[in-house]
Amino acid sequence: TTVEWEAESYDMGGHDTYMHKEISEQADAVDRVLRGRIDDRFSTVHLGGLNLDAREARGVRRIKILGCGTSYHAGQIGAQLIEELARIPADAEPASEFRYRNPVVDPDTLYVAVSQSGETYDVLAAVQELKRKGARVLGVVNVVGSAIAREADGGTYVHAGPEVCVVSTKCFTNTVVAFALLALHLGRIRDLSVADGKRIIDGLRRLPAQITEILENEDEIKKLAAEYADAKSMMFIGRVRGYPVAREASLKLKEVSYIHAEAYPASELKHGPLALIEPAMPTVAIVPDDDLLEKNRAAMEEIKARSGRILAVAHQVQEKADHTIVVPKNENELDPILMGIPLQLFAYHTALAMGRDIDKPRNLAKSVTVE
Ligand code: AGP
Repeated sequence: TTVEWEAESYDMGGHDTYMHKEISEQADAVDRVLRGRIDDRFSTVHLGGLNLDAREARGVRRIKILGCGTSYHAGQIGAQLIEELARIPADAEPASEFRYRNPVVDPDTLYVAVSQSGETYDVLAAVQELKRKGARVLGVVNVVGSAIAREADGGTYVHAGPEVCVVSTKCFTNTVVAFALLALHLGRIRDLSVADGKRIIDGLRRLPAQITEILENEDEIKKLAAEYADAKSMMFIGRVRGYPVAREASLKLKEVSYIHAEAYPASELKHGPLALIEPAMPTVAIVPDDDLLEKNRAAMEEIKARSGRILAVAHQVQEKADHTIVVPKNENELDPILMGIPLQLFAYHTALAMGRDIDKPRNLAKSVTVE
């Protein structure tokens, strides 16, 4: 079965597809997830429905995030944000893998189920199994009152608004922002300083305007999509913060254009995938201006040495790359929120040029409510 928004009741607002509409809505959507939650006095945020008091939050020793597809990728960035800001060991795992491996359910672990629809069966089943074993489960969910939201002990809504296109875009971005809020909240209860809390809050407030800036670059991204549309296959690489961005961008491209794409940590290239590099296999490299910049440049050099074409998403023009999409810089921790957005447009324009059924790609449903 498929859970569907009543698509006809949502105006396309002059856009040719819901995907384009939803990509374009992201500045407002992020504004909405931030609204009413920032507490400048204590440099923290309030998340009303968490049902986790400060004492309980201090007792959490590990966080396990469970989701599928795009929500799993958002959870991977979420886990990194939680480790960086709250210094709680955290990781993300596909919900179905988790539920079938008879996981050790530890009483000091906080589980977080992440789902746009709140109805994905694999996630719901993982939540039910965890609850049965006495674990505490939070939900990071878009659809209010959905099954996962109801089943969880508490959590936060991501307030992306209705997402109609099968391919998730604005909900991914808002989910990552919701994780940044959760990480900041937990961090300020634990060891994150007032100054760092303020730095992250200032960064969050800059996001909507920076998203608008990225979206204004659409014409250039459209040209780049035409440039790479002949690819039979594409490689996406990133390191640490950039790696889940690469994974999500690769999923977006394959879902909507049907071009084969693979995502690898840049550091893994030399352990195998370099063998694939040739002019017909271009690489998209996520190259943030952080402490790994030189490492990322070295990876691009290795690709160029094998005649690979490179499209970089970076904070400054990359000489090693054939093309660079320059995105505005935020705080290092928040950069992943912005770096995937031009690649949503890249996937969209590639699919458009290829005449794909953008809002309803073949073989896919918006919400997979069966096993
Ligand atoms: C997103 O582009 C996909 N269509 C898909 O991976 C999706 O994210 C996944 O099925 C999980 O859905 P959910 O967030 O509603 O649980």
